[in-house]
Amino acid sequence: MKLLVTGGAGFIGSNFILYWLKNHPDDQIVNFDKLTYAGNLENLESVEKNPNYKFVKGDAANPDDVQAVMEGIDIVAHFAAESHVDRSIHDPAPFIMTNVAGTQTLLDAALKNNVKRFHHISTDEVFGSLELNDTNKFNERTNYDPRSPYAASKAGSDHLVRAYYHTYGLPITITNCSNNFGPYQFPEKIIPLAITNLLEGKKVPIYGDGLYVRDWLYVEDHIRAIDMVLGQGKVGETYLVGGMTDEIPNIEVARKIVRILGKTESDIELVKDRPGHDRKYSVDWSKIKNELGWEPQHDFDTWLEKTIEWYKQNETWWKRVKDGEYQKYYEKQYSS
Ligand code: NAD
Ligand code: TYD
Repeated sequence: MKLLVTGGAGFIGSNFILYWLKNHPDDQIVNFDKLTYAGNLENLESVEKNPNYKFVKGDAANPDDVQAVMEGIDIVAHFAAESHVDRSIHDPAPFIMTNVAGTQTLLDAALKNNVKRFHHISTDEVFGSLELNDTNKFNERTNYDPRSPYAASKAGSDHLVRAYYHTYGLPITITNCSNNFGPYQFPEKIIPLAITNLLEGKKVPIYGDGLYVRDWLYVEDHIRAIDMVLGQGKVGETYLVGGMTDEIPNIEVARKIVRILGKTESDIELVKDRPGHDRKYSVDWSKIKNELGWEPQHDFDTWLEKTIEWYKQNETWWKRVKDGEYQKYYEKQYSS
């Protein structure tokens, strides 16, 4: 099998490529990535010389770039996206270009080249926000209600992917996953931001009252879910993927990290809230469990500790990532 992995130099995409080459050693992978601020080929140094791995730099929204890499591809695993909510609030345009126009460009090329499967990686954020006291969870029948430009752009891409299935018969599948954490996550997202700030002697910025809840999932569990959907998932179907945390508010996530790193509560500061901040995400993953036998295997506390250890051991990686362009973004985002 020959896979096209879009956005393979990012957090989840690079973890996916490392996992896939290990678990499916006969498959070939083409990693197609624009290398934005979030793309980092250092994540893939260990497979650079693998004859079954190839990197191609290109833009998902550029039809020529996309057509050139799509020839001979059996399976597309589409990770490429602008992925950070705060950046989408500052500047929505790149989110529409990559997440909406980029997805449509890839869908066109996939159709033209008769790919056997187009798998779209999406997010639970397309479903909007739950109240803290709401015991309901998002499921495959929940209405779309995106509230940030990022979530709206991902919702648009999901609709396009389904439209290509219904209208043109493109064999698609979709996974909508909750918040991931693990190695190689860009330190603008809360868990690596908190860890690296504390390692640098800085405080952890927590938005608003800190009582916002995410459904944390270790990245390898997400990748296993995608593997199972590619292998046994039903064409045209969507599967929700979530974690096993028991509604831990952000402030408590920060406290756990502070404790593991031997810091104190005074190393956490409450800062100005994010506009339109979604209160809670919670995912019912019973469909993928019942139909494909997937469930999360990595509990939050153990794997948070292991993730912290990874960042401690890989200081050069995140120090380089935090230099340059990211510094300008950080000053703009947290200046007040
Ligand atoms: P990331 O920001 O770490 O990586 C995105 C990658 O896409 C980068 O390598 C970037 O260079 C590349 N890219 C951006 N624009 C591109 C373009 N126009 N053409 C080609 N490549 C481009 O993101 P991530 O956290 O790894 O997320 C991957 C996917 O998973 C995204 O689609 C995201 O919406 C989805 N997702 C993420 C999470 C999460 O918690 N991180 C949860 C659910 C779903
Ligand atoms: P984030 O990692 O940006 O993921 P998402 O917005 O896609 O869920 O944020 C996770 C949670 O952490 C979210 O409730 C916002 C909050 N947060 C902070 O409190 N402080 C921060 O500096 C950041 C980046 C996020």
